[in-house]
Amino acid sequence: METPDHVMKTLLVGGAGYVGSACLRWLLKHGHDAIAYDSLLAGNAAAVPADRLVLGDLADRDLLNQTMAEHRVEAVMHFAALASVPESIQQPETYYRTNVLGTKNVLDAMVQNQVDRIVFSSTAATYGFENEMPLTEQSRQDPQVPYGRTKLAAEHMILDYARAHGLGCGLLRYFNASGADPDGEFGEDRQHETHLIPLVLQTAVGGREKFLVFGGDWETRDGTCVRDYVHTEDLAQAHQLAIEAAEPGFARAYNLGTGNGTTVFEVIQACEEVVGRKLAYEVVDSRPGDPAVLVASSEKIKKELAWKPQFAEIRQIAETAWKWHQNYPRGYADKLSSTT
Ligand SMILES: NC(=O)c1ccc[n+]([C@@H]2O[C@H](COP(=O)([O-])OP(=O)(O)OC[C@H]3O[C@@H](n4cnc5c(N)ncnc54)[C@H](O)[C@@H]3O)[C@@H](O)[C@H]2O)c1
Repeated sequence: METPDHVMKTLLVGGAGYVGSACLRWLLKHGHDAIAYDSLLAGNAAAVPADRLVLGDLADRDLLNQTMAEHRVEAVMHFAALASVPESIQQPETYYRTNVLGTKNVLDAMVQNQVDRIVFSSTAATYGFENEMPLTEQSRQDPQVPYGRTKLAAEHMILDYARAHGLGCGLLRYFNASGADPDGEFGEDRQHETHLIPLVLQTAVGGREKFLVFGGDWETRDGTCVRDYVHTEDLAQAHQLAIEAAEPGFARAYNLGTGNGTTVFEVIQACEEVVGRKLAYEVVDSRPGDPAVLVASSEKIKKELAWKPQFAEIRQIAETAWKWHQNYPRGYADKLSSTT
């Protein structure tokens, strides 16, 4: 990608998380200036350069304001959220506070500091279950779980602020974020992991005895759920394109996926191939709030912003993730101990 004419200073709220930290590294590599603002509730300090992390919570309006002012922030990427579907069903209050009120705090600080570009991490979970696949941006948004409803509420709020205050905004609806830094130095590491690929590969490096497969009798080709796995490097490229496009008045939503639907068993097979052996799992009941199939059409961002995803195959995604898990079996804890 070309280096931008103007070095834009972007604040990545939630920038020490899995997707946010990949975007921060990408922006720095591609001629942007960027810092992360993160409470480290779920993120990792070692995922971002120490001098580029402001430790702070979404609830801290003063610190958000002060950070935007002191760092002369010109654009915001907003990743910070709680993102577990089952947890959102049990604790909707926490999800509305973080994902909706937290987004309002970010927007208020932007308005106060005349920051006029935002790219927001939205999700496939904002779509209804009755839509035909692949999902386009025209598919009906009718989220079936509190997590998706908080994300849709945040989308609407951003659009309303954008209209009222002349902001430019990109709403990026990711499907299943996956993969790791191609050098194997950074990757997925959460205290409470719920994502399939890290669970499978943690089993491979001995961090777990087995992993669970939720539901084996879905109406799909092998009975397991079909998802669209999109690499964090490709998400990062899309964030750069969207923030550069987000001139005041720009207001677009884009799906981000590869368009390839992959079943849970196919993901396991790809992981077993890169690992070189069979891995232990158990098929258990499906979870509330999970649809059978989620696949994206990302034609709109390809056409409008010339997005060119590089990791179309699940095998490539599994290879990068395996490199990270092999290098750092206990994730960032191992990375820290290898540098001290
Ligand atoms: N991972 C996926 O497959 C996926 C899919 C669709 C959408 N998304 C969205 O993308 C975004 C990033 O996802 P991720 O997988 O990187 O998650 P993540 O949990 O790794 O990152 C979220 C970051 O936000 C921070 N954070 C949470 N609450 C905060 C608060 N109150 N104040 C400050 N920081 C806070 C966390 O510490 C963490 O670093 C989320 O908004 C999520 O809803 C993710």
